[in-house]
Amino acid sequence: MTTNNYQASSQSEESNSAAGEHTKNIDAGQRETGARPAPEPVIAIRDLKKTYLLGETRVRALRGVTLEVYPGEFVAVMGPSGSGKSTLMNLIGCLDRPTSGEYWLTGKAVSAMSADKLADIRNRRIGFVFQGFNLLPRATALKNVVLPLLYAGYSREEQIHRARKTLELVGLGARTHHMPAQLSGGQQQRVAIARALVNDPSLLLADEPTGNLDSRTSLEIMAVLQALNQRGLTIVLVTHDANIAAYARRQVVFRDGRIVQDEPIPSAARRLAQADFDTLTPPRDTLERSSS
Ligand SMILES: Nc1ncnc2c1ncn2[C@@H]1O[C@H](COP(=O)(O)OP(=O)(O)OP(=O)(O)O)[C@@H](O)[C@H]1O
Ligand SMILES: [Mg+2]
Repeated sequence: MTTNNYQASSQSEESNSAAGEHTKNIDAGQRETGARPAPEPVIAIRDLKKTYLLGETRVRALRGVTLEVYPGEFVAVMGPSGSGKSTLMNLIGCLDRPTSGEYWLTGKAVSAMSADKLADIRNRRIGFVFQGFNLLPRATALKNVVLPLLYAGYSREEQIHRARKTLELVGLGARTHHMPAQLSGGQQQRVAIARALVNDPSLLLADEPTGNLDSRTSLEIMAVLQALNQRGLTIVLVTHDANIAAYARRQVVFRDGRIVQDEPIPSAARRLAQADFDTLTPPRDTLERSSS
């Protein structure tokens, strides 16, 4: 298993704050005792159901899903259109509530939480990346990444410092003052990833993050996600593309609101996005626009 360098390195400045207590306690516990107790899952859901009411019609989007995701996992969620992938992501992301079933996020029972507490845990523990990059068009990359920090109680200096560090983490250290329109699609999605990570979440949720990107740029994004996962970040990614799912460590397949397959990808069979990217000869302008 990978050590959680992502958490350790990026949270070192605020190691006494409440934000990172959970993941760090697990690591500390293992170090102190020398034993390897099973780590607490980042996500534990049991018999989760979601039924939407559309007029008289009931749409059973999730029909009883049970799933555990552990620290450092990289899960690709696949399945046909309408099989419940985004519904599951919305529930995991605390953007919606289930009709029934239970959900623990880093050991905390989400179903018992008030709306305020839910918003708080969502802001501190979960980063979101979507198919559309959802960047503010009139704000620089740096400003876009600073946004989630505005109400987190950091000084202005600290906000900028953290946003810069996170942009460096995704290879955009030299693009902080570019507007979204002055960035390639892949770079825009990397800004969106940096924005999702700037609060040091325990979990990154990505719903079709490469859906709007060509295959070369998709590889670039998968290389960034693999590197982040290598540093310990837990990732759940939805994709309909088997080539993209091949970069995860585990594949979960949905059909009609149920999990029909859940298998690890053995490390020997695992594809490396950076290596695949390097085998492509990039056109000159892509090289020039790349910052790392
Ligand atoms: N807000 C909603 N109100 C009513 N029905 C909904 C709502 N959101 C989703 N559904 C329905 O729930 C089912 C699952 O939808 P969901 O968006 O989770 O599918 P998906 O697997 O993400 O599909 P896609 O690959 O097309 O994104 C679909 O039948 C959809 O029509
Ligand atoms: Mg969807």
